[in-house]
Amino acid sequence: MLVLGIESTCDETACAIVEDGKNILSNVVSSQIDLHSEYGGVVPELACRRHVDVLIPIIQEALQIAKKTLHDIDLFAVAHGPGLVGALLIGLNATKSLSLALDKPFIGINHIEAHLYAALMSQSTPTQFPCLGAVLSGGHTTLLLMHKVGHYELIGQTIDDAIGEAFDKVAKILGLPYPGGPYIEELARIGNPSRYPFKPGRVKESPFSFSFSGLKTAVLYAVKGQHPHSDPLPPITHAIQADIAASFQHAAFTDIEKKILAAAEKYSCKTIVFGGGVTNNQALRARLTEKCPHLSLLWPLAGLSLDNAAMIAGLGYHRFLQQGKGDTLELEAVTRFDF
Ligand code: KG4
Ligand code: ZN
Repeated sequence: MLVLGIESTCDETACAIVEDGKNILSNVVSSQIDLHSEYGGVVPELACRRHVDVLIPIIQEALQIAKKTLHDIDLFAVAHGPGLVGALLIGLNATKSLSLALDKPFIGINHIEAHLYAALMSQSTPTQFPCLGAVLSGGHTTLLLMHKVGHYELIGQTIDDAIGEAFDKVAKILGLPYPGGPYIEELARIGNPSRYPFKPGRVKESPFSFSFSGLKTAVLYAVKGQHPHSDPLPPITHAIQADIAASFQHAAFTDIEKKILAAAEKYSCKTIVFGGGVTNNQALRARLTEKCPHLSLLWPLAGLSLDNAAMIAGLGYHRFLQQGKGDTLELEAVTRFDF
C-alpha cells in the first residue's frame, strides 16, 4: 500500500511516500529556518504563506524521487494537528483536494503520535508493548504510556514552555542563531555543567509534568549578572556563554531523565520510544544510554527526529488499517489534542 504523507503543522513543509508503513521511498522536507531566524521564533503568518508557496513543488519532488505518480498512491495522510491553525489548514485542504480529485481515501494524523511512530518505523523487530513514549520537540514535552499503536495514555506534559522552545529561548538570550538546540549542544560540549546551579520547575502533585519557563528566566539573570537592568543584555565571554549552555542543558536533561526513568518504573515499561527534534541531541542520547542498560531505547533514525512527513505517512497506513476506512471531508484542523 503506497501512502503519500503531508506535514505542515508549524514551520516545515514536508511530503513523503511510504510503502506499507515502513519502507520510505522519499522524504522531502522544506525548512523555513531562513524565514523565521531574524525573529528568533516562528511567525505564523509568514509560515502559512511559505507553506502555500512550496507545498505543490514539494509533493512533485517527493513523487519524482519515489518514481511514482499521483495515480499510484493508495492513501493520503495528513497531520491535522496539533499546530498552528492556518498552517494545518493548508496541508489538510491540499490533502482533501487530492483525495477528491483522485478518488482515493485520506486520513488525519496526530503529529505528536507520529513523532513516536518515527522511532517504531525504523525497527526490524516487533515492539514490546507497553512502552513509555517521550516526545521532546519544539512544541511538545509529553510522556505517554503506549499500549499499542493508536492507544495511548497521557502521563505528563509541560505546563509552560516545551523543551525545544526552552533551548531556542535560551539560545536567543545567549545571542545564538535560531533554532538554538544544535548551537546549545555544541557550546555545552566545552562548558562546565556545574558552574550554574539551574533548576527546572516542579509541578505540584504531578510528578511527571514539566516546567521550563523558570529555568529560562534563571538563564536570563545569569547573563545579566551584576547588571539586572541592562538593556540590551550585557556582553558575556565565550567561556561564560559555554558554561551557561552546559549548565542549562545539564539541568534540563537531568529533569527529563529522572522523570522518564521514574515513569518507566512506575508503569513497568521495558522500552522507551523517543520522538521530536530534541532527541537529535547526542548528549541526551549518551546519558540515557548510560543510565538505562536495563531498558530498550528506541530513537528515530536520521531524518525522522525533526518534523517530517514520512512519520505521517507511516502512521497513516496503520491508522487506516485499524479504522478500516478513511476520514470524511468534515475532518477539521485541531490545534490541541487530548490523549
Ligand atoms: O520536532 P521538531 O521539528 O518540532 C516540533 O514538532 O515542535 O523540533 C524542533 C526543536 C527546536 O526547538 C530545536 O531547537 C530542537 O528541536 N533541536 C534540538 C537539537 N536539534 C533540534 N534541541 C537540542 N539539541 C539538539 N541537537
Ligand atoms: Zn513536531
